[in-house]
This record gives sequence, structure tokens and C-alpha cells, in this order.
Amino acid sequence: MTTEMERARRLVAEADRIVVLTGAGISAESGVPTFRGAGGLWKSHRPEELATPEAFARDPQTVWEWYAWRRGLIADCDPNHGHLALARLALGGTPTTIVTQNVDGLHTRAAPEAARGADPSPALPVEVHGAIDRDKCSSCGARTPGTSSVDTSSHGALPRCSTCNGMLRPDVVWFGETLEPEILSRAFQVAQDADLCLVVGTSALVQPAALVPLVTLQNGGALIEVNIERTPLSGEARVSLLGPSGELLPELLDVGAAT
Ligand code: OAD
Repeated sequence: MTTEMERARRLVAEADRIVVLTGAGISAESGVPTFRGAGGLWKSHRPEELATPEAFARDPQTVWEWYAWRRGLIADCDPNHGHLALARLALGGTPTTIVTQNVDGLHTRAAPEAARGADPSPALPVEVHGAIDRDKCSSCGARTPGTSSVDTSSHGALPRCSTCNGMLRPDVVWFGETLEPEILSRAFQVAQDADLCLVVGTSALVQPAALVPLVTLQNGGALIEVNIERTPLSGEARVSLLGPSGELLPELLDVGAAT
């Protein structure tokens, strides 16, 4: 009898072009809490109240304290076997693009590690929700590498733009904000061109990112889902692999490499 894993491997082997959509679940095994999981950031820190332009306008000190804490937490995390397996896939023979909702930069950090000196660019992700280790000026929009230790001791100490002196903020998409049009259209384009979409560790609830797999489906492509539990997308998936992505992705993608 053909197992789900064998069916999924066959889909990967037969694909001409792959898009991967990842969410917080892929980084869970690296130690980054998910948003909606038990004990996740969502519940303990109420990000829906802090990750908004209104919250930043009202109380930038508290918003910065929260992001500084998250930056520190993420800086101490490393890419896991799931990130590395995806980076190797992207550097392999089948054109593959990783689209991520994560702002943790772990796909980017996995890219050179997997490339072992080769050009890592195909493994760099399309980051639709921004990057936590970058700052953006809330006045002029200039982007700069993020300050590693943000002084949140007073309103006056918060980081300022070196060009216009506007208040710097983390370069992430907040609730109520629109995604960068160019980045979003690139994500939809690769989803449209792909004949296989691999959806990993996302609750598939947040729009418009959750549309990426649906775009592939609408264009006749297939879906493989990797998640520890079923999601609203599971019914649409050709194969649904239930379990941690750090274990399942190497099993799914490293078949050739392991033999
Ligand atoms: P969620 O926290 O909503 O969902 C995480 C998903 O990962 C869930 O479906 C879990 O079942 C699954 N999961 C947890 N551990 C896993 C593991 N080890 N292996 C595989 N799957 C696992 O996170 P996202 O779907 O990424 O947006 O959330 C989407 C967006 O909502 C985020 O990008 C963020 C948030 O609001 C912004 O910040 C704009």
C-alpha cells in the first residue's frame, strides 16, 4: 500500500515548479513560539493589541519593549532541520520559491548553511510580513538594519531615523496594514506558476498570505500540507502529512540526498 509519505514524495519528484508557503509552525522546533498554538505568543502577549499602528502611535515604548524581547528571543534561535531541508530543495534541480509569513529570518539563515558556499539566492525567501531584524522609519519609510539592543527605558531613548529623525519601528506588517504590493505580487506569481504548493506550519487563517496555496490550486496545481494538526486547507490538500515539520520535511525532501 502506498503511504501518504510516498505519495507526497512522488508529487515532489514529479513537480516542475514548486512554491512553499511557511508559517510560524516551521520555526516552533527552533524555539520560536507560534501565534495561535497553546502557550504561544498570541495568548500570553496579546500581539493583536500590540502589533498595530494605533498601538505604536499610542504607546511606542511598550510596543518596542515587546519587539526588543522578540528580537532577543529569535536571535538565540537557530534554523532547524525543516528550514534546512527547504533550503536544500530550493537549491536543487526543481525551481522552488519559499514564501514565508514569518519575520524571524530563519529561512534566510538556513540558506547559506544549506548552500555550503554555493550562491544561496534561490533559497532566500519572499518575506510577505517583513523582517523583525530590520527597522523602518515611520515618517520617511527608510529601511535600516535593526538595532540589536533597543533602549526602551524612556520615550526619548527610542530609536530615531538618522535621515529625518522620525520614530523607527520594526519592519514588520502590522494588523490593519497592507502588504508591500511588489512582494505580494511576486508571491502570487510564483504560486500561479507552480504545479505544486507545499504548505508548512501555518494555520492558513491570515489573508492575503493564505491565498497563496489557493492560487496554485486554481491553476491546476496540487497541494501538500505539513502540519501537526488539520487546518482549513487540509481538505484541499492532495496529501496531508501530520507531524512536526522538522522531522517530516527531511523525510519528504531529502530522499535522493540520503541514498
Ligand atoms: P499560527 O500560529 O496561526 O499557526 C501555526 C501553525 O503551525 C498551526 O497550524 C500549528 O498547528 C502548526 N504547527 C505548530 N508546530 C508545528 C510543527 N512543529 N510542525 C508543523 N506545524 C506546526 O501561525 P501563522 O499561520 O504563521 O502575521 O500565522 C499567520 C500570521 O498570523 C503570522 O504571520 C502573523 C500572525 O498574525 C503578522 O504578524 C502580520
